[in-house]
Amino acid sequence: MSSKYDQKLDYQRDQKDLIQWYKKNRRALPWRANKDPYRIWLSEVMLQQTTVVAVIPYFEKFLEKFPTVQDLAQAPEHEVLEAWAGLGYYSRARNLHKAAKALAEGGFPKTAAELLELPGFGPYTSRAVASIAFGEKVGVLDGNVIRVLSRRYGLKLEWWNGKARNQLQDISDILSSFGSSDSVNQGLMELGATVCTPQKVMCMLCPWNADCVAREKNLVEKLPLKKPRKESEVWVWKPVVAIKDKKVALIANDYAPFLKGQMIFPGTIAMEDKKPKEFDVKHNITHHDIFIQIASKKAVTAKNVQWVELKNLKKVNPSSLLTKVLSKID
Ligand code: ADE
Repeated sequence: MSSKYDQKLDYQRDQKDLIQWYKKNRRALPWRANKDPYRIWLSEVMLQQTTVVAVIPYFEKFLEKFPTVQDLAQAPEHEVLEAWAGLGYYSRARNLHKAAKALAEGGFPKTAAELLELPGFGPYTSRAVASIAFGEKVGVLDGNVIRVLSRRYGLKLEWWNGKARNQLQDISDILSSFGSSDSVNQGLMELGATVCTPQKVMCMLCPWNADCVAREKNLVEKLPLKKPRKESEVWVWKPVVAIKDKKVALIANDYAPFLKGQMIFPGTIAMEDKKPKEFDVKHNITHHDIFIQIASKKAVTAKNVQWVELKNLKKVNPSSLLTKVLSKID
């Protein structure tokens, strides 16, 4: 018998079991209350940077301020950035605003291919909005989905490479092809977030546990494969720390390779071959070893500076890097 035929039956059964599980177990999240594409889009953009629990208050506050895509399109950019403050990656908020202007004029396109043309809409967001809001039969692929599919089908794939990623995308598309792509996609996300988690996996709650290849072969901890770590790099950062009236000068980071788009001190940065002899403090973010030489405590000449109340700093940028630098200022 053709194994392809068997596989299709597997996928079809998995789709059915997943939908059934999702309908019973899904969390009542605010963006699941209706099919408004604006709300669904907003939630997907916010969820790309942080967890469901952290997103909920931002999501509700943002919608209170900008209840429709027209309201968002008409708002001045600084108001949009203010409502975004704390979520980080301000380029996402700028793109959201740009896309809102296009959508307020032309309406929401209903397919992933058309959505992909809009600012800030990558493959994931386009597919999520098209399937959840409009029922298009397209699958999504993000970290959660990669983990769930790699385990269920026992795939030792280098998912960070294009070819392997396409293979996973194809499986996700097949699962969505039978219908109810909204429930399939959100079911995969939900399964990855609540059951098939990176650690402390709860296989007994999984609708796929009887057929899960990783479980059968004792590979749950080994899949998905781990992306190789990048070698660490030495960076010398010279932040300009200016404080006035209990406020500190920050800019949206467009110059340092870490905390991209987030609010940080203005300054300069360079990659070096080895660590400098003198520095005020050291900090690590992923593969960046950052040696910090505080440049100046008074003048600030950078453009687009925002003066942020020191007491609000953690809200604007929760990274300990900023507080660490500040602690060296007397
Ligand atoms: N993560 C990304 N999108 C999500 C969604 N729609 N529901 C739950 N978690 C998600």
